[in-house]
Amino acid sequence: MLEQVTKVHDESRQGEAFAAEQGNDQVYNKKFYIESYGCQMNFNDSEIVASILNQEGFGATRNYEEADLVLLNTCSIREKAEQTVRKRLQEFRKIKQSNPGMLVGVLGCMAERLKAKLLEEEKLVDLVIGPDAYRTLPALIEEAETGQKAVNVLLSREETYADINPVRLDSNGVTAFVSIMRGCNNMCTFCVVPFTRGRERSRDPYSIIQEAAALFNNGYREVTLLGQNVDSYYWVGPSPNGGQDEIITFAGLLERVALISPLLRVRFSTSHPKDITDEVLFTMAKYENICNYIHLPVQSGSTRILQLMNRTYTREWYMKKVDRIREILPDCGLSTDIITGFCTETEEDHQETLSMMEYAKYDLAYMFFYSERPGTLAARRYQDDVPEEVKKRRLTEVVELHRRQALESMQQDVGKTFKVLIEGTSKRSENDLFGRNDQNKVIVFPKEQYQKGEYVYVKVEDCTAATLIGKVVLNH
Ligand code: 5AD
Ligand code: SF4
Repeated sequence: MLEQVTKVHDESRQGEAFAAEQGNDQVYNKKFYIESYGCQMNFNDSEIVASILNQEGFGATRNYEEADLVLLNTCSIREKAEQTVRKRLQEFRKIKQSNPGMLVGVLGCMAERLKAKLLEEEKLVDLVIGPDAYRTLPALIEEAETGQKAVNVLLSREETYADINPVRLDSNGVTAFVSIMRGCNNMCTFCVVPFTRGRERSRDPYSIIQEAAALFNNGYREVTLLGQNVDSYYWVGPSPNGGQDEIITFAGLLERVALISPLLRVRFSTSHPKDITDEVLFTMAKYENICNYIHLPVQSGSTRILQLMNRTYTREWYMKKVDRIREILPDCGLSTDIITGFCTETEEDHQETLSMMEYAKYDLAYMFFYSERPGTLAARRYQDDVPEEVKKRRLTEVVELHRRQALESMQQDVGKTFKVLIEGTSKRSENDLFGRNDQNKVIVFPKEQYQKGEYVYVKVEDCTAATLIGKVVLNH
């Protein structure tokens, strides 16, 4: 039960399954239903899939009972994520009994990890498609329509879907994700991602800037640049304006996206502590519209455990990185991921994680107990030797400390005024709007005459551990 965290940002949808709806009037002769699990990258991939399917005459529906094609974009990061998808597939089995023509496809990391084996394990699945094979969806659907099982789980060294314009699904029209790279080369020993999403590759920067500018022109006011490890973004190639090859690093890309308009907020995720540079921090400081918020997963506070995890930094090195962030960006929001009970973790190691939390004062944390994943380096090299109840007890301690810290961090904001981008109506009340401040904290305030997509200044009067509560004091 404790595996996934406190949803500290209650308006956020991280870690939730999410059925998508499409908001255009075009008429399609077939319908697809897609549900996404796991990271934001998967949600963005579903939008790429939607774009490919639109071209094939499939429109999105929110009602799977009327769908010709049901897709689950899956996550393998922890065992529990896979169990959730398997349960969901059981439910679709029933629907398929009354509608045998309906095709069911598994996309994403579980498709990649299990490959054709998934067809044996889950009898109702018709299509299995890995994260680099979405362009072949039309051909695979055709194959599946003839009654054959269709599989493509080839990984690629080049595919970035750079030229595919994602169809924004169930969008608020204000914030959007833009993928800037795919895959991961880091080989953290606990992580299945390098195996399911393949080698790291950076997307053509000009297509990224174009996509972000088009979003801005369509009324969007915030883009989040996504990658498993954005700080290792690297592009070298001819400039579209002619001339010599250009080298574009993540800092350079960030700057170019920020220059689209001062009204377009820019966020990014995820930063690996070993790769985030001073250049990135200075670029963040230079542009008001690059949000002061960094997701900097620590995973553990113990140098010994970090070494076993192959994180390539020590406890002290991470602390210095936090110091540097605070020095260059004094009001920067900081969040993290933490794993408890990794192989051989002792009480002392665990205490070091707690003391790291005290040191870094995270505003937000995603906390998990270790879940061994088949095929990873840890599964091959180490024994998963921390008993489940110990992993869970340590997780509870981490979660409790984080709750206290998150509340403190929120309380410190009471009385302050923040610039907020309005994202929509609050889930709790029709009369309230919600948005985020620069530091990514959710703020709820009375609607009055304000509308989503606008910037307002909100004075914070109260808070919970998850939400700031205030009133607009100034329209932008
Ligand atoms: N067990 C538990 N948590 C994991 N994560 C990745 N792999 C595992 C695993 N095997 C967590 C890490 C990572 C986040 C996305 O998921 O904290 O940063
Ligand atoms: Fe996994 Fe580490 Fe890559 Fe993140 S950086 S996706 S945790 S291997």
